[in-house]
Amino acid sequence: MASSSSLYSKGLILHGLILAICTSLSILHASEGPTLTLDYYKSTCPTILEIVRKEMECAVLSDPRNAALILRLHFHDCFVQGCDGSVLLDDTITLRGEKKAPNNRNALKGFRIVDRIKNRLESECPGIVSCADILTVAARDAVLLVGGPYWDVPLGRKDSKTAGYALTETNLPKADDGLIFIISKFFYQGLSVTDMVALSGAHTIGMARCVNFRNRIYGDFTSTSSVNPLSQQYLNKLKSICPPIKGSDNNESAMDYVSPNLFDNSYYQILLRGDGLINSDQELYSSFLAMETKKLVSKYAENPIAFFEQFSESMVKMGNITNPDTYANGEVRKICRFVNT
Ligand code: HEM
Ligand SMILES: *[C@@H]1O[C@H](CO)[C@@H](O)[C@H](O)[C@H]1NC(C)=O
Ligand SMILES: *[C@@H]1O[C@H](CO)[C@@H](O)[C@H](O)[C@H]1NC(C)=O
Repeated sequence: MASSSSLYSKGLILHGLILAICTSLSILHASEGPTLTLDYYKSTCPTILEIVRKEMECAVLSDPRNAALILRLHFHDCFVQGCDGSVLLDDTITLRGEKKAPNNRNALKGFRIVDRIKNRLESECPGIVSCADILTVAARDAVLLVGGPYWDVPLGRKDSKTAGYALTETNLPKADDGLIFIISKFFYQGLSVTDMVALSGAHTIGMARCVNFRNRIYGDFTSTSSVNPLSQQYLNKLKSICPPIKGSDNNESAMDYVSPNLFDNSYYQILLRGDGLINSDQELYSSFLAMETKKLVSKYAENPIAFFEQFSESMVKMGNITNPDTYANGEVRKICRFVNT
């Protein structure tokens, strides 16, 4: 791994550069799955990293929210059947995709960015690069392009021929899940408490919909945030965005109100103030069961480099989640939305 300071400066330098350039059922852990390698496409598609980076630069430059959309897609891909592009599949007569499952409906976007990257790669090296790998690299670039750390991405995933509609319900954590439940969902994927707290730092970018934070702002927000004199103002604003009526369900607010488009550690500082937007986030610090997680939140709030290093390592670990069925029976899709015919 690169030294702390270079992790940090690489992110900042690249952030500046882009302005100039632009135009499961049986989850196995890393040791039992396929071997992913850094140079997997070295001879078959040497330009993969350049192409993904360029498309992500354009996407993030046109709207920094796109970084959040892609990062979340990768997470929702990996927690359901492993990182196999299953989240990208559209519904067809014979296949029920994951997009319309309750945890994903109205909540996942960014599919057109993946399509665009895939198109470019298909014209450059047809039939070579899996959609699951595209998403993994794109998520890394997304983080980097909004000021986050760089890490090397192991490659060689296969795309699934199936989707896991029901698994979205059992595997994906929800806004109102308690701390223990969230920890157990990460354990199930082979991820530790440390991974969970670091990966939750992804909420330093992106938005949540009212339906996912209404219980929190009309619930224990006041009690967790009593340490911060400015919290009442923030809470009033949230309540106006998210009144207790159904029509406001899709109204959005940034999870990191300090720097919503910057990948930094302010998410953790917000948790220290008790101002976390969604319940599962604030639980990391305020749950009466929070011991280890509380310490980690404090650590990352104080030390952005420690957060960046752990986030990078945990992202590789999350990207390593594989399902042996996918690997054995998988393919490289021609179009990320559809299984090959
Ligand atoms: C720890 C358990 C987690 C829970 C309970 C959780 C829950 C949520 C919820 C409820 C939202 C708002 C979605 C909406 O309202 O449409 C959200 C957004 C988001 N999540 Fe998580 N999440 C978790 C972990 C993660 C992880 C591990 C990542 C990635 C590494 C991630 C990345 C994101 C991103 C980037 C967004 C913003 C998406 C956007 O702007 O549309 N989350 N999450
Ligand atoms: C991820 O998998 C690769 C190869 O499959 C392995 O070399 C690496 O150590 C794994 N990383 C983590 C953090 O699990
Ligand atoms: C959505 O939020 C805006 C404030 O950003 C608010 O004026 C509007 O009333 C909200 N919509 C609903 C249906 O509550």
